[in-house]
Order: sequence, then C-alpha cells, then structure tokens
Amino acid sequence: MSSILTDRHGRFHDYLRISLTDACNLRCQYCMPEENMRFMKRSHLMSADELDTLAGLFVQHGVKKIRLTGGEPLVRKEAAEIIALLGKYPIELAITTNGVLVDQFLDVFQNAGLRSINVSLDSLDPVVNRSITQRDHLDLVVRNIEKLARTGYRVKVNMVVMKGVNEFEVGNFVAWSKDLPLHIRFIEYMPFDGNGWSSAQVTTHQQILEMLRDRFAFHKLTDGPNDTARAYQVEGYTGTFAVISTMSQPFCETCNRIRLTADGKLKNCLFSQGETDLLSALRAGEDVEPLIRDTLLAKHARLGGQLSDNYLDTDPELLNNRAMISIGG
Ligand code: 5AD
Ligand code: SF4
Repeated sequence: MSSILTDRHGRFHDYLRISLTDACNLRCQYCMPEENMRFMKRSHLMSADELDTLAGLFVQHGVKKIRLTGGEPLVRKEAAEIIALLGKYPIELAITTNGVLVDQFLDVFQNAGLRSINVSLDSLDPVVNRSITQRDHLDLVVRNIEKLARTGYRVKVNMVVMKGVNEFEVGNFVAWSKDLPLHIRFIEYMPFDGNGWSSAQVTTHQQILEMLRDRFAFHKLTDGPNDTARAYQVEGYTGTFAVISTMSQPFCETCNRIRLTADGKLKNCLFSQGETDLLSALRAGEDVEPLIRDTLLAKHARLGGQLSDNYLDTDPELLNNRAMISIGG
C-alpha cells in the first residue's frame, strides 16, 4: 500500500503507540532513571483533543491498532476521556499498564471497546517486586490481572527478564498461566537512557527456553506476521508464554510500529535518535502530514540505526535516546 505510513524499506505502519504521560506510580529503575529525571510540563503534553486530532489523522492514513502507554497511562488525569475519544475509531484499542489502577477503569474500557490489556509485572516475589518497583502493590496487581483474565479481557503479562534480579522466576510466571488464560511474555532487557543496562544482564530467548525446559513440556505456537513475540504453550495449559527477543534476535524486518510521545513527538523506532515535533506543528496550524511522511522515510532498517546487530557489541554509552519512561515502550 502506498501511504505516508510506508517507509523506504517497504514496511507499512498500521500500529501506533501513544504515550499519555511520562509520570508513573511505580519507580522501576530500568525504566525511570533515578538521576536527571525531569518530567514533562503539563502544557507540553498533548491535550485530549490534540491527541484525538493526531490519532484521527493516523487512522485516516491506515492505522488499524492503537496502544496507549506511559509512563503509566492511567495516572494521566484525562485518561478516561482519552480512552473514550479513541473508542470511536474503527481500530483495535489496547493499553499497556502496570495494573495498579486497572480495576478503577473497567467501565471505561468496556464502553470504549478496549479488550486487550498488557500488564507489566516483573516479579511475583514480594521482596524482589518491592526492590524493582520501589512500591508495595504486588498483591493488588496480581488480583487485578486475575480479575481481568476472568472477565474475558485478553491479558498479556510483560516481564522484563534481568540476570541476577528476577530470571529465576520465569517458571513461576509460566505456572501461573496453568488454569488462567494469561499470556506471559518474557522481554529481553533493553538499553535506554540512564537505565544502567549492560549486555551481561540480558537473559536471552534461548536461555529462557532452557530454564523452562527443566520444568515444563511445551511446544511452539504459530506467530502472526507482525508479532514481536515468539509464542509457546505448555501441554495442557490454558495460557501461553512468549519471548520478545529484541536483543538476541531483532524482528525489525516486519516492524509495523510507530510511536507518539506524550509531548506529541513522533518516533519511527523505539531506538530512534530523531523525533519529529508534530504537536508544535499542530499548534501552529501547520500541515503535519508531510512531517509524518518524512519521519517514516527516515526510518532505519534495524534498531534505529543505533544498536549493533550483535547485542554483545552494543555500547550503552553511545546510544542517544530518551529514557523508556518518556518513550512508552
Ligand atoms: N527493557 C525491556 N523492556 C522494558 N520495558 C521497560 N523498560 C524496559 C527495558 N529496559 C517494558 C515495560 C513494559 C513494556 C512497555 O516495556 O516493562 O512492559
Ligand atoms: Fe512505571 Fe512501567 Fe516504568 Fe515501571 S516500567 S516505572 S511501571 S512505566
């Protein structure tokens, strides 16, 4: 399809991820740098109407799926209003949340036709969970995840696997999906500004599978054409598990994602150095379509042109990007 959302490598981008805020009610260090974290000013955030205008434009150009992200999207004051506004588009609407506030939004999700929820949860162990998030919400989040799954939402649980931190828990996450329709997703740890990443902390796809083989008999499932996760199922289990192997086996060839930050900047890749200020153009009454087209045309073939193909050669000091919390994942 020829569209302003097609890049030079022939990839059509029909999946837009929109960050609602860079604020969060948790403090995961791998996402939010402890030092130099300056939050966005409210006046720099897209208002609900501005966000709706930009989203509508992307939908007009062929976007079929919108995922809301953060920071934590549900701490944004206008979260309910924004979800309701986006609910009117003929798209799949989804959200990635840390699960702390989801039970307060079930009506909002229901009314907007939002059925697909990714919950980030890195540890089921109270001590480890507290040390990662610097907060004490584990029980609430577990309860909320189980409630979502029982009420028919499509629930994915995202766990960032970090060596020496939580990797010993992968089996416990899989076991949780025995009788519940949970889709557990193990994410290889990625480098972002200020998150202290080193290649030695990455537990790879292969290593994750090896740890699980000791405990479970599982088989490969068929993946969709644009899936970033490789999915598996334990024999006789209700749920599934998958691995997102950004570091050891990047999946850039089939990338269909673009990202809009909470302050209205378009990023053509999670690891892109550049970003295009759509919000200032919109506020100045300028045409944003040529900006969108140029941003897509500047998209690199792989990993924002910044990471080495072999993650072991990636030097985090040389990366020029935002912190994860201000990109939105
Ligand atoms: N590496 C891998 N995944 C990360 N996320 C946040 N920071 C990182 C990182 N450094 C995850 C969040 C969330 C998803 C959007 O990205 O846990 O689930
Ligand atoms: Fe908040 Fe998610 Fe970042 Fe943790 S990973 S600080 S929950 S935005």
